Amino acid sequence: MTRLLSIEDLAVATGSGRPLVRGVSLTLRAGRILALLGESGCGKSLSLLGALDALPPGLRRMGGVVALDGRPCAGRELRGGIVATVLQNPREAFNPLLTLRAHARETLEVRKAEADARLASALAEVGLDDPAVPGLLPGEMSGGMLQRAMIALALIREAPFLIADEPTTDLDPVARARLMDLLAGLRARRGLGMLLVTHDLGVAARLADEVAVMQGGRIVETAPTARLFAAPAHRHTRDLLAAHAMLCADDRPPAKTATVGAVA
Ligand SMILES: Nc1ncnc2c1ncn2[C@@H]1O[C@H](COP(=O)(O)OP(=O)(O)OP(=O)(O)O)[C@@H](O)[C@H]1O
Ligand SMILES: [Mg+2]
Repeated sequence: MTRLLSIEDLAVATGSGRPLVRGVSLTLRAGRILALLGESGCGKSLSLLGALDALPPGLRRMGGVVALDGRPCAGRELRGGIVATVLQNPREAFNPLLTLRAHARETLEVRKAEADARLASALAEVGLDDPAVPGLLPGEMSGGMLQRAMIALALIREAPFLIADEPTTDLDPVARARLMDLLAGLRARRGLGMLLVTHDLGVAARLADEVAVMQGGRIVETAPTARLFAAPAHRHTRDLLAAHAMLCADDRPPAKTATVGAVA
């Protein structure tokens, strides 16, 4: 089984040569979760898309090597069978005219009964075990259901790696906690290696073994999660942690103050 997926020195630029991502190196290991943090627009999604040869029209990969267990390979060879992806906007990832069952049959190219059985088992694994779900169209599912359906479709390929781009965005706190449990469970049960792009430091702290921080198209720091949170080395990492701490402080109810003249 594949143990290591490495992305080395990846660069992405516009058609006119304006660099958007430079020198990005990330290593995914079986059974480990790597979180990729960074402010909006710093190049997280383009790094993933560049590595998978799935850039939008008008953008080009300018360099970099993607390798499986040390063997260089084309990004497009990885999609589906080796790397399952959960992209940033789940609704865009589905054909609005196809039910989930039809998506699974199209994805697997096996006998219909087998595709249906594998979908049912993957849906149960992500907590969507209502028998009506396979017959639903994407427009009939909520954002949280679509996120989980996308993970189920990723699982039926039995890919050893999962790349999830902000999978907890747009979810309410309960759905977010459920999805975090699901990802942690998949790592434990299936030994998946994951790259988790997130803005949410709480998600990174809870799930990731290692964290990479991006700024302005580059990785500025990569460290084991506990060390990154306890002793951030790069200034941008310290700024991100400070901004998060400030937001958390704002969320807390104001401290009780003694009332003058209160009766004991
Ligand atoms: N199709 C495109 N053409 C030109 N520039 C683009 C294109 N897509 C993205 N960019 C630019 O590349 C940079 C990185 O974009 P990217 O989508 O990777 O950011 P991100 O870190 O994923 O942000 P977010 O957290 O908001 O999803 C941004 O400055 C963005 O404006
Ligand atoms: Mg993005």
